[in-house]
Amino acid sequence: MKTETLSASAPYIIKQDYSAYTEEQHAVWAELVGRVLPELEKHAAREYLEGFQIIGLQKDRLPNLESISARLQPRTGWSSTPVSGFLPAPAFFEMLAARRFPTTTWLRSRESLEYTPEPDIFHDVFGHVPMHAHPVFAEFLEHYGRVCVSKEDEAVLEKLGRLFWYTVEFGLIRERNEIKVYGSGLISSHGECMNVVGGHCAIHDFSLDEVLRTPVKVDELHKLLFAVSSFDQIYEAMHEAERRAMGGRL
Ligand SMILES: [Fe+2]
Repeated sequence: MKTETLSASAPYIIKQDYSAYTEEQHAVWAELVGRVLPELEKHAAREYLEGFQIIGLQKDRLPNLESISARLQPRTGWSSTPVSGFLPAPAFFEMLAARRFPTTTWLRSRESLEYTPEPDIFHDVFGHVPMHAHPVFAEFLEHYGRVCVSKEDEAVLEKLGRLFWYTVEFGLIRERNEIKVYGSGLISSHGECMNVVGGHCAIHDFSLDEVLRTPVKVDELHKLLFAVSSFDQIYEAMHEAERRAMGGRL
């Protein structure tokens, strides 16, 4: 889908001024990557690590979104599209439905390496975009956007938000009986990742019913997360969620 067909999100789409990043910002990026990558090489899902290579992420330079998108688009049709900041829900869903991931271009400062209240380019690109190279995940995320963009009922959107939270943001997968992380909130936060792999968080097998009845908590480390056995499971769960939403049963 071209930009011209986007309406709700069009005012938020910007250009990334790559040459404006300072050497200090590239150094902060390198430090952010350097403090999580050794753990991720042990604990991240294979699909995430493959995506990292496919999109050509560099460890010591901030990502150029045009280059990332040029490598990603031929694989799955997704792009990483620069936006001015936090998007209202309809604009966010519209972009997902168009396989354009809304990507912030600012980077946290050295003083807040571990946490930022709003997503920055490290969370968005390092955390999210590698998974968009995986065909099934790519399909799931577009479908999520298509379903949500057609819904206005707050209660329905809150339930669908739980599905997003416990997959895209904080999802786990079981690989040969080992728990691996793929959610961006785990990938881009050393503390969240260690909370899971250090055994401080209960892990249940993914079940759509349980996910939908588990509220999201944003102000503490997770005490319960969900592990899929393959990404087909979230693809199927999204179709089931859509059927339930259409039938007023979500
Ligand atoms: Fe995120």
